Amino acid sequence: MSDEVEWWEYDDLAELAAAVAGDIGFIIESAIDARGAAVIALAGGKTPIPIYEALSSAKLDWKRVTIIPGDERIVPLGDPLSNVTALAKFFLPKGARVMPIVPNAIADYKAAGRSADALMQDLHWPLDLCLLGVGSDGHTASIFPGPDFDEAIAGPKECRALGVMPHPMPDDAPVPRVTLSLAAITTARALVIACTGTEKRTVIENAIKQGRSSPYPIGRALAGTELPVDIHWARA
Ligand code: 6PG
Repeated sequence: MSDEVEWWEYDDLAELAAAVAGDIGFIIESAIDARGAAVIALAGGKTPIPIYEALSSAKLDWKRVTIIPGDERIVPLGDPLSNVTALAKFFLPKGARVMPIVPNAIADYKAAGRSADALMQDLHWPLDLCLLGVGSDGHTASIFPGPDFDEAIAGPKECRALGVMPHPMPDDAPVPRVTLSLAAITTARALVIACTGTEKRTVIENAIKQGRSSPYPIGRALAGTELPVDIHWARA
């Protein structure tokens, strides 16, 4: 369990985005200095878009940066729901390597997960950063309640990604997913959370109190890492 969860509060999302983009830029530079390259997993959803907007204007050695989505909806590339499509828009023009983890939207979501896991075995590991969002139901990445929850939370340590069929389906993207496993998330060299709103803050605070027995995936993620975790939060 991380004993050091630090909350960073901002007046609005724009202020949060500038700060988190600065932190991510520093993490990327440090990884390149130390290992010659950076491999980072970035959250999907809407909240981090201003972060990516700000980060994409940073002067970094982008050709040494590999970016993967921390999770992906199983939809065709270019689909409005595709997380990697949103990341590619910001970072491909910078010369970063933006790697789809679901290059083909196949119907068999478990096969899509196995394929993503195989793709990710070629990346230098552990991740230099995992940026997470949080749903108001306490999900993170695409670790959701459902038939694949236990595999995502407590599967083989070497599993980096897996297919997930959320149950119930989330309203905002009601499709099967591929997600980083909890092991992939909690072994990252830096774990950063960015979220907004009092509802999500309450869920995270409860999840922290619940610790390893939390029913919330975000609670299991926080309990599963030994690293200090920065939680960046804006009221709206
Ligand atoms: C996804 C995300 C997911 C997201 C949360 C919050 O693919 O949906 O990775 O974990 O971070 O659902 O999403 P919002 O930032 O849009 O509220």
